[in-house]
Amino acid sequence: MKLFALLTSSLLATAVSASIFGSSIEVAPYDDALDVPGKNPLQHCQDPKDDILDLESVDLDPNPPLPGKTLKITATGTLSQNVTEGAKVHLQVKWGLVTIIKMTNDLCDAGKEVDLKCPIEKGEITLEKEVKLPKEIPPGKYNVIADVETKDEDRVTCLTATVEFKRGGNMVVHQGLK
Ligand SMILES: *[C@@H]1O[C@H](CO)[C@@H](O)[C@H](O)[C@H]1NC(C)=O
Repeated sequence: MKLFALLTSSLLATAVSASIFGSSIEVAPYDDALDVPGKNPLQHCQDPKDDILDLESVDLDPNPPLPGKTLKITATGTLSQNVTEGAKVHLQVKWGLVTIIKMTNDLCDAGKEVDLKCPIEKGEITLEKEVKLPKEIPPGKYNVIADVETKDEDRVTCLTATVEFKRGGNMVVHQGLK
């Protein structure tokens, strides 16, 4: 499903670009119950039971993603209602303790890059997307949070991941937020 192409490519791609300083968003402590099903380093920011998006699975190939390689994303989920114009993606990336990206994007505008058309109709949705990752990623521990809400500020989904890029381009996935 296209929403996830956007989210997951945001999670991965923006971790390596831009530099906007800002404050932080609170994230729940590590909890297995928050893991997103499938082969991925993602977790829900908090209990997703009231989310508009019910994520069934997200698979990344390879998992963990590798700098310079094409990442294939396959995701399935169910939307309990249409997601219309005005939906927003709040994105925050920390590199160590420093917030390097804090921005809000219009989901429908940003989605055009990944073929996302609004309204996104409610019901079962699936996604297959390939993303080419940059080769040069500054080493360090990155924490990414992508919070998606409708124009009425109802939560669609909120996903987080903590990944570490080692010198030399290998990536280590941390289970949970440290
Ligand atoms: C959802 O979107 C579809 C397609 O745009 C539309 O036909 C339908 O009426 C919408 N449903 C609601 C509840 O707004």
